[in-house]
Amino acid sequence: MGAVWYPFDVYDDVPRPALVRAEGSTLYAEDGKSYLDAIGSWWVCLHGHNHPRLLAALQAQAQQMDQVIYAGFTHAPAEQLAQSLVDLYPGAHKCFYSDDGSTAVEVALKLALHAQQRRGRPDAKRILTLANSYHGDTIGAMSAAEQGVFTHPYAPYLFAAQPLRLPYTTDITSPATEADEAALAEAEAAFATGAFAAFICEPLVQGAGGMRFYRRETLRRLWEAARRHGVLIIADEVMTGFGRTGQLFAAEHLGLAPDLACLSKGLTGGMLPLGVTLASAEIWQWFACAPVPDRFLHGHSFTANPITCAVALESLRLLQEPAEQARRQALYQNLKALACRLAGQPGFKRVRHLGGILALELEAPGVQGYLNAIGPKAYALAMAEGVLIRPLGNTLYLLPPYCFTEAELARCEQVLHHIRQTLTEA
Ligand SMILES: Cc1ncc(COP(=O)(O)O)c(C=O)c1O
Repeated sequence: MGAVWYPFDVYDDVPRPALVRAEGSTLYAEDGKSYLDAIGSWWVCLHGHNHPRLLAALQAQAQQMDQVIYAGFTHAPAEQLAQSLVDLYPGAHKCFYSDDGSTAVEVALKLALHAQQRRGRPDAKRILTLANSYHGDTIGAMSAAEQGVFTHPYAPYLFAAQPLRLPYTTDITSPATEADEAALAEAEAAFATGAFAAFICEPLVQGAGGMRFYRRETLRRLWEAARRHGVLIIADEVMTGFGRTGQLFAAEHLGLAPDLACLSKGLTGGMLPLGVTLASAEIWQWFACAPVPDRFLHGHSFTANPITCAVALESLRLLQEPAEQARRQALYQNLKALACRLAGQPGFKRVRHLGGILALELEAPGVQGYLNAIGPKAYALAMAEGVLIRPLGNTLYLLPPYCFTEAELARCEQVLHHIRQTLTEA
């Protein structure tokens, strides 16, 4: 064991291969083994590892200018990337740079709370969140999520957001159920108290919360209710952004614009860390002419790193090219066909698919969700077959980079059946 303190590790008993190279969909280890990256390395890798276009952008920018202070100066990569993002994202007007998904969420929370003060609504302090949500590991991001296994030691120190329980579905277009109506009524009543500053959610799919889908119409009505009551809407698109749900951004499914949106992970195609918070013109206006103490006094040392911004710009260009769009659509179709084949197989439940995401539950006794003991077993079985999946308890999912081929998907299908047969038919 070396000196590294590994991040939240629930798979301690499984060997930890040392990786030396990555290309396309594959990770290569120093012992000669390779692993098919079926989860885009924690959902960051969009186009495939070491994409030559991203590498070229990185090298070109690195030769020009490394990290520079982003206060009192600006530079083209940051300006161009911000412009591209506000042009693409529904309702976005300004782009605030940070470092990762958690800091993008922190910025959104601070902006929402601060904007409510500027709007003359200082009593609007609470955050409505979704049950089962995850928004990152910093104190604000933990506070904005439902409290649970990731947050329990810190509970006394968090401002507890109020969780709203939405029913899950395998089809985001299915009509609202009684449970949806009840959740909508609960949200409406909460908003009507005037105590809520913001409603935060991952639009349509909760990632770390178990790749759970909820209904598009319900979300649309929730956002409309928030808007009616002056509650600001924060869309955490850290996972759902950049094509994962079938649209470039999940908000596009709704035809509505949030007040604030958080992006990270796929923002640089997964090559370098970067976070942004996009703000509407309405949010911006509260800060644009504010006196100094009321401006947004927030920033990080590596804000708008030029190399990172240049890579993100190239990734955005790539994403929008017709050939890449066609490749993405083909992957969506292949995942959909795979979901149809897996549905109804004994041992699998709630098979669901949306865009580049396929998820299902393994029949498993005991506590359902992240702590189900079947997760590490499924992980180990897949790793032994050279496929990287990272189950969320008894939830298995594929969220591959867009370069994933049909043959690679077929390998994943075999592994899913192997897991099903080994762990559920015993
Ligand atoms: C929806 C969502 N928000 C925020 C985060 C936090 O991002 P990061 O790990 O880059 O801090 C994550 C990470 O998985 C996420 O899935």
